[in-house]
Amino acid sequence: MKDSNRKKVLMCAPIHYDIKYSINPWMKDYDEPLNKELALAQWLRFYSTIERINDVTIEVLDTAKTPNNCPDIVFTANAGIVHNNKVILSNFKHPERHCEKPFYRKWFEDKGYEVDEILESLYFEGGGDCIVVGDKLVAGYGFRSEHIALELVAEKLDLELHAFKLADPRFYHLDTCLSILDPETGSGFFYPKAFEDPKALKKILKLKSVSKRDAMKFCCNSVVLGDNVVIPAGSKKILEFLREKGYNVFEVEMSEFIKSGGAAQCLVLYLN
Ligand code: ARG
Repeated sequence: MKDSNRKKVLMCAPIHYDIKYSINPWMKDYDEPLNKELALAQWLRFYSTIERINDVTIEVLDTAKTPNNCPDIVFTANAGIVHNNKVILSNFKHPERHCEKPFYRKWFEDKGYEVDEILESLYFEGGGDCIVVGDKLVAGYGFRSEHIALELVAEKLDLELHAFKLADPRFYHLDTCLSILDPETGSGFFYPKAFEDPKALKKILKLKSVSKRDAMKFCCNSVVLGDNVVIPAGSKKILEFLREKGYNVFEVEMSEFIKSGGAAQCLVLYLN
């Protein structure tokens, strides 16, 4: 297994995290109310799990000035997509998340990234819906990002677009149903039923299928950093598969973020 070039991630502490509206099925479908203290504890444990991985730097978005009406800013995967020090900022579909963009923009500008965006009327939700695999931009569309938006993003990043239509509203972002283990070769795992044409993915990526049970535990929403996989707790089968393959696997409890339709990968944006 070769060393990944993913060495830097952006995170945001769940200071303003809450479930104040419902923009995906998970946000109205949970039994116990959101436990904010537990959310903070889960996030801190997740943070320290990543912090302990060799050679990985965590950048943290400062939310001191973020208004309280921005409860989803913790999901930094949706800030945009970064490639070669260039970021294409997201255009959130739902007005509830529009407040986040200026904070992401400022952070990238301050850090010296080349900041770009596409026409504001075209929906695009960044690392939630696309991932760089070699010279390809692998993307999902249909719920939060539009195909045309992905075409423009791929063009701006000089990547070849491979976009797949998502089919299940519970798996409304690509990162809820596809995890890429090796960003060079495109090996990974996915939940086939979340895609309109799962066979099309298998043509370009080397994918293992996961069960609905594991997918519902957000196993595809894993963070992969080199040989390390940080996976939402409860997916025994895929966990064993990853260990057999030689990955260091770290399970993290994500119950409070799953209530908002997100988990580990959603809380992280790959910066390279
Ligand atoms: N509540 C958030 C939303 O619906 C969750 C975002 C999850 N992010 C992700 N990358 N899948 O937008």
